[in-house]
Amino acid sequence: MAEPSLSHTTTKIQKLHGKVTIVTGGASGIGEATARRFADNGARAVVIADVQDEKGQNVAALIGPEVCTYVHCDIADEEQVKSVVESTVAKYGRLDVMFSNAGIFTSSTDQTILDFDFPAYEKLLAVNLKGMAASVKHAARAMVEGRVGGSIICTASVAAIMGTEKYTDYTMSKHAVLGLVRSASLQLARHGIRVNAVSPGAVGTPLFREMFGVGEGVDLDGLVAGWSRVKGALRGKNVADAVVFLAAEDSEFVTGHNLVVDGGFAPAQAV
Ligand SMILES: NC(=O)c1ccc[n+]([C@@H]2O[C@H](COP(=O)([O-])OP(=O)(O)OC[C@H]3O[C@@H](n4cnc5c(N)ncnc54)[C@H](O)[C@@H]3O)[C@@H](O)[C@H]2O)c1
Repeated sequence: MAEPSLSHTTTKIQKLHGKVTIVTGGASGIGEATARRFADNGARAVVIADVQDEKGQNVAALIGPEVCTYVHCDIADEEQVKSVVESTVAKYGRLDVMFSNAGIFTSSTDQTILDFDFPAYEKLLAVNLKGMAASVKHAARAMVEGRVGGSIICTASVAAIMGTEKYTDYTMSKHAVLGLVRSASLQLARHGIRVNAVSPGAVGTPLFREMFGVGEGVDLDGLVAGWSRVKGALRGKNVADAVVFLAAEDSEFVTGHNLVVDGGFAPAQAV
């Protein structure tokens, strides 16, 4: 007798089948990994909104032009955010998922409170906070108008739940992301829109390199692994899996939540 077919066990589960998605900061790091995961999970459209044009175009081409497109968008400029949301809705008829992920680190000083540099702080907040709020605002407006509900996920950080020895402005910006997520989730639940945060621990991206002054040739995996109590190095794809969970129906009753993905780094230290 023939063996029963195992093909059903290898069929990929497409948790975002047919969904229209935007990923800010999708040209690199966590955003890039998530754009790939969205496409792997059957998204109909993945729109990468970023300021690194060449990198963004390359990522979109690798994911596949039938699913993924790149749009230049500086999230610090509300009009550009509005425009990327409007062009997405015009092209695909709706917006289901916004991954508001783009963020920066400005390294002019250590940004301890004693040497706080306000111009650097303002530059950082323009992206990490104003840009994040603009992305949530315009995604939510499109979802309310479309009357189809939706899921919005914002990238916070372990720096959203604990103090840090330096980079006070970055830590402030990430704490504020949780205030944005919690308030927006209350306001948008009646429209069928969920708003959650994902808080990664250390991931070996260009932002991480810049923040900790890690040059080429350094064992990045070894360094990143030192930030995790779970064995191994946290990667963008691990964060992306959590984002897919928050984007998909698996989490249909989860809203206003901060999902920490850090290999157990923060809880023992966070107050
Ligand atoms: N890497 C980490 O260890 C870590 C940990 C916790 C949280 N985060 C957060 O994760 C998010 C992604 O960071 P990453 O580590 O993947 O860094 P990354 O530098 O690899 O990616 C960030 C992306 O955001 C884009 N970006 C920057 N400013 C922008 C703007 N004004 N408009 C549009 N796009 C812009 C960049 O071009 C880049 O492609 C950030 O919000 C960061 O704060 C990172």
